[in-house]
Amino acid sequence: TDRYAVVGNPVEHSRSPAIHAMFAEQTGQTLTYERLLAPLDGFEAALKAFVAAGAKGCNITVPFKFDAFALAANRTERAQLGGAVNTLRFDADGWTGDNTDGAGLVNDIQKNTGRSLAGLQVLLVGAGGASAGALGALIAARPARVTLVNRTLDKAQALVASHAHLGVTLSAATLADAPAAQDIVINATSTSLAGAASPVDARVLKRGSLALDMMYGPKAQGFLDWAAAHGAEPRDGLGMLVEQAAEAFFFWRGVRPDTAPVLKALRATL
Ligand code: ATR
Repeated sequence: TDRYAVVGNPVEHSRSPAIHAMFAEQTGQTLTYERLLAPLDGFEAALKAFVAAGAKGCNITVPFKFDAFALAANRTERAQLGGAVNTLRFDADGWTGDNTDGAGLVNDIQKNTGRSLAGLQVLLVGAGGASAGALGALIAARPARVTLVNRTLDKAQALVASHAHLGVTLSAATLADAPAAQDIVINATSTSLAGAASPVDARVLKRGSLALDMMYGPKAQGFLDWAAAHGAEPRDGLGMLVEQAAEAFFFWRGVRPDTAPVLKALRATL
């Protein structure tokens, strides 16, 4: 049986095994998908042991997405652009790294909320690994403008510079200088916000804005409450999680699962 896993630290709360088990059942693919806890200083060794045991691929989560990028002999264009790898395929001729996070985000917004990003004003909050993985896919959906804001301005500027050639109006700013009245606001910071809180002021929203936090569960709640309190439509990161998993499944197996029933089932267990 083909073996896959999600590799991270911590990894015990990952929903990926449940998602991929549902995908496999739905598509009639025979595979196993487990959780693999790698020591903080032992990511490469853990991967090599997994490959030696016959693994075909893995997903990579915090904090190893940059290490996975460095270890991949081949990289897809979107992984190259984001500088991070969340999916590895262990091919006979080497490891290929992909990044399905951005496509997962865009597919969640466009398929699952029914909004087209084309022509919209998008605010991306945060400039760490999560933003880096998502920005290219957001741009590819042709919004009118993407503004990247971050506590540390340099990091937002660096991401804007590495994506400037993609031809969408793109700018960097501090959190305090976030533009008002955005159509879509995406929280990609790692802050877990207590109460009705957000790293940016509520003027970034307008009635009917979509306010999406890449996290799910209790960690997303503060941001979601804040969004709802200001007339926006809150959305957590569970849909993005399922959609990025579907992209990874396709990358490994060449089969595209139907995400809607999987998201519904997962939501029911949250
Ligand atoms: P991830 O892989 O989740 O993106 P990361 O690369 O460590 O994690 O990036 C964390 C992001 O959350 C960064 O944008 C960080 O801002 P800085 O670049 O200024 O560090 C942001 N972040 C973390 N804690 C924050 C806080 N208390 N307020 C605002 N932004 C915060």
